[in-house]
Amino acid sequence: MDSALSRNLSRTDLSWWHRRYLQQAEWTRTARVHLYRRLEIARCGTILEIGCGTGVISNELVDRTDSAVFGLDNDFTALDFAREQASNKMLLWLAGDADKLPFADASLDLIVTHYFWLWAKRSDVIINECRRVLKESGRLAALAEPDYSSRQDHPEGRPNIKEFLMSDLKAKGADPAIGKKIEDIFARAGFKTVAGSVCDKTAYGANPELFRQEWKLLERLGYPSEELASIKKQPEEKWITMPIHWAIGRKK
Ligand SMILES: C[S@@+](CC[C@H](N)C(=O)[O-])C[C@H]1O[C@@H](n2cnc3c(N)ncnc32)[C@H](O)[C@@H]1O
Repeated sequence: MDSALSRNLSRTDLSWWHRRYLQQAEWTRTARVHLYRRLEIARCGTILEIGCGTGVISNELVDRTDSAVFGLDNDFTALDFAREQASNKMLLWLAGDADKLPFADASLDLIVTHYFWLWAKRSDVIINECRRVLKESGRLAALAEPDYSSRQDHPEGRPNIKEFLMSDLKAKGADPAIGKKIEDIFARAGFKTVAGSVCDKTAYGANPELFRQEWKLLERLGYPSEELASIKKQPEEKWITMPIHWAIGRKK
């Protein structure tokens, strides 16, 4: 495979991102478990996760099913990390790009993604690939995609935290408002689509760890330290809302 595909994150970066992915998966757990039931994952013979990163969701799928589970990512180092973390599991890790899936036509029952379309550069090509490799009536599921454009922080911060995070994501080539577009992307590609979103308001007292993680992320991304120190004061007044969207498409 072309090594240019890999971002080759350092080991320290990967441990940090792995913890972040675990945390994200914790935030989206309730909706995801509901979607797993709706998707009847236990009845799927073959499941692919596209953009599996360090393997958090693929591992969960293998623990919850007897299916053949494949985790695919174009980041070599993330996949090595995933392999090491789950060396005892029946999971196949695939280094590859989502716009050329290494599967035969009509060979998979289910494709899942979690915080993937946010980063997908050629979503039109990728979604056609998903169609190609899914069996008739097979499903494509976006389990969680954020919509930063509708995020609210209290206090908003100066610079505005939402704007700061959105600029950072855009600079890295991501689409921070992907959540609200995902239903349309699936439907336009010809999938029979159902979709929804969850938008809880989380106060500091209900989940201090969420705020600690957000602050660590802001620090890492270079948010001004004096402003961050001031935001951390009087934590009981803080809250965040961030819509997380999901979509399930059935191949017609
Ligand atoms: C935010 S991470 C999510 C990881 C994982 N799904 C989770 O939630 O823990 C997105 C992943 O998608 C991968 N990715 C982005 N574009 C890709 C592509 N075209 N083909 C394969 N993987 C891709 C990135 O390398 C990254 O590991």
